[in-house]
Amino acid sequence: MRNIDLANITEAAAQSFQGLPDARQQVLVQALVKSLHQYAKDVQLTHAEWRAALVFLHKVGDISSDSRSEFSLLSDVMGLSSLVDLLDSDPSATPGSVLGPFHTVGSPWLDNPANLIGANEGQRVLLRASVCDSAGQPLPTATIDFWQNAGNGLYWQVDPSQPQDNLRCQLKVSAEGRFEIATIRAVPYQIPTDGPVWLDLVQPAGRSAWRPAHFHVIVSAPGYRTLVTELFDAEDPYLDSDVVFGVRDALVGRYQEVIDPQACARIGLSGTTVPVMNVEIRLAHV
Ligand code: BEZ
Ligand code: FE
Repeated sequence: MRNIDLANITEAAAQSFQGLPDARQQVLVQALVKSLHQYAKDVQLTHAEWRAALVFLHKVGDISSDSRSEFSLLSDVMGLSSLVDLLDSDPSATPGSVLGPFHTVGSPWLDNPANLIGANEGQRVLLRASVCDSAGQPLPTATIDFWQNAGNGLYWQVDPSQPQDNLRCQLKVSAEGRFEIATIRAVPYQIPTDGPVWLDLVQPAGRSAWRPAHFHVIVSAPGYRTLVTELFDAEDPYLDSDVVFGVRDALVGRYQEVIDPQACARIGLSGTTVPVMNVEIRLAHV
């Protein structure tokens, strides 16, 4: 096509990807081209603005590495990661929430109930959870992949003072679909503030860098949709300003003081009561 003008350029550009061999990829790319063109028209994008955007994207790429994806962070702070989580959530199941950058495949398998406290400093707590289907029937075949940050706010991968695989595990639920993890209370922490996403975009917008305290869990069971989600602490001050839009009411749990001398002895608490967060996790059928 040689006579390209404002009226035909979008269709010409979209059509040029008609040859992509994968049908779904063709849909994704052609729709993206159309949305980008519409965006440029809507805001009457200038050359200077487009060049500035490319400089920003270059910086996002430059700081990214095998252990750091500034592009994921960009998606997170723009709400795109959470939008995809919400689009992918089944309404009959517990809602999904961001995976984040600190999941690693192959966490140690521990017996259930598990104890992750080790040498970690912080408030000792119990997470008690049941896993069931969308009708409330327990799922004894479920497995859990769990990870969280330490008392200093950091995950073990970015903190040489922590042992490998600190505060993470995989486990199987009980015959009743239940599991218990003794751990320390998660704390709020900030997204990286040394890169272009924070320095050029989020900070200038006057936004907070904080994520509210949370546990991450991936819950799987044969025949059910795997759930990637987070469990938040009802007393956290940042619940209403999560920089990555991960909070949903159904994911907020409150610690209750429970009288349980045996659990206290098990996790080294001197008294007879222990703060327990009780949650129910529902999975949807495939
Ligand atoms: C996290 O939950 O660990 C996380 C999520 C998004 C960006 C940064 C951290
Ligand atoms: Fe996290």
